[in-house]
Amino acid sequence: MKIVSVEQMRQMDQTAISEFGIPDQLLMENAGLASYEKIRDRFDLQKDKFLIVCGGGNNGGDGLVVARKLFSNEAKVQVVLLSNPSKFKGSAHLNYQIAQQMKIPTQSIENAQDFETLLPAFDVIVDAIFGTGLDREVGGKYRDIIQAINRSGKPVVSIDIPSGINGNTGQVMGIAVKADMTITFGLPKLGNLLLPGFEYNGQLFVTHISFAPKIFNNPEVQTQTNDPVELPERPTDAHKGFCGKVLFVAGAANYLGAPYFAAHAFLKAGGGLSYLATPRQIASTIAMQGPEIIFQPLQATESGSIAHENLDFLLEFSEDMEMVIVGPGASLQAETQQLIRDLLEKSPKPVLVDGDGLTAVAKDPACIKFRQAPTILTPHPGEMARLLNISIGEVQKNRVEVLRRACKELNAIIVLKGAHSLIGHPDGRVYMNLSGNPGMATAGSGDVLTGTIAAMYALLKDPLLATRIGVFLHGLAGDLAAQKMGMDGLLAGDILQHLPEALQHYRR
Ligand code: APR
Repeated sequence: MKIVSVEQMRQMDQTAISEFGIPDQLLMENAGLASYEKIRDRFDLQKDKFLIVCGGGNNGGDGLVVARKLFSNEAKVQVVLLSNPSKFKGSAHLNYQIAQQMKIPTQSIENAQDFETLLPAFDVIVDAIFGTGLDREVGGKYRDIIQAINRSGKPVVSIDIPSGINGNTGQVMGIAVKADMTITFGLPKLGNLLLPGFEYNGQLFVTHISFAPKIFNNPEVQTQTNDPVELPERPTDAHKGFCGKVLFVAGAANYLGAPYFAAHAFLKAGGGLSYLATPRQIASTIAMQGPEIIFQPLQATESGSIAHENLDFLLEFSEDMEMVIVGPGASLQAETQQLIRDLLEKSPKPVLVDGDGLTAVAKDPACIKFRQAPTILTPHPGEMARLLNISIGEVQKNRVEVLRRACKELNAIIVLKGAHSLIGHPDGRVYMNLSGNPGMATAGSGDVLTGTIAAMYALLKDPLLATRIGVFLHGLAGDLAAQKMGMDGLLAGDILQHLPEALQHYRR
């Protein structure tokens, strides 16, 4: 499903009006009707009393339509206006006039105290204060009223997006309504699905408001959910080479887990042959954990990381590989970091860079920018910040746009990890992944992801598809593990063990 920015949604409304002759009033009526229907299905119109809290923009106008529908169906309704009604424009103004003519109980509220006095008499709050037009921090009486709504303990229905959430970034603009249910129109907005906004929706409904297919197919909308795509079956006569050979360049004396999780996850996700090039001293210890991995012991630096002298061997050995995966547990040792950069620059193979490999890239991104073969990077927000030389706060404030910029600048497919991981392509496409859970924020989880993406690449030979399916499967494996054992204490090994089951589910 496509996900739209605030500006794109406005454009879609405009296209519906100008190209298809759908009047603005009809769009607002449909939005109000769609919201009313969800409210009717959830609550008891005979018994429940509804408080409709309206701001001065079109979101408030939608709220007035909801109030009218409830009122017409004999529910007990009270509208409160937080802004002077003279400010309503266009369809919102029309709906205000209709509400007046119909004598729907309406009261203007000047301060939060008056609002709190009203609250106890109602069972359901409909939040139509701000929609996607929120353009600054929420302050003054708006802040106090949103606080009162959140404290009330009553069910809250938000129209389009919970008031206080930025429609483009999902950021809380000072304070936001914590809804139990949100009804959004046409397509989900970025702010509905990006964290933390996503958590404020409660249950999210995407409803229809008369957009024609041409509007949905707008090629300018380049962000979408990472929906499962078909994964080819393993042929009956598959041999282990069919599912690909990859080389992991990973590990150091004090990092034995990362190379193991990555190289083993490759096998657990259906990859063919997993070669692990790692310092000689640790190879046998890792082999005890994962005897199915094939080891290429390497010369080590004094501190036990991969020495630079291995470069030619690694380049030669990888000639026969589908992909080279660089970085898990490789350490920040300067010589090793230089080896990583040289390897990335010189290797004509598709590469996936993770963990310490990303720190090496951040120091001199030129090592990947001009590569001809595909490059996949899997940074968490801290690593992304280093790659772009910005703060973590800046990354998190606008994850989609930061990712787009990074993909273009670094000429790479990038997974920006975190809740609802994003996958970006240099051509501007961004996919938002919805599988996974907070229990997966655990040591080694990213290494399992790396191996999973590598397995999908070995199978599909398509870097974007492999990354998308890999991220989805990794989340699904974490969800299956959490279903059985809960999220607390979930380990990377648990995600790893659930990869085969995740694949089974995925193929269904
Ligand atoms: N504090 C106070 N007022 C604010 C703030 C703020 N922090 N931010 C915005 N406003 C005011 C604007 O000045 C404007 O009057 O809120 C109003 C805009 O609110 P919206 O209703 O969100 O914006 P608008 O563009 O009119 O409508 C968009 O309409 O299509 C429907 O519900 C749909 O979300 C969508 C909404």
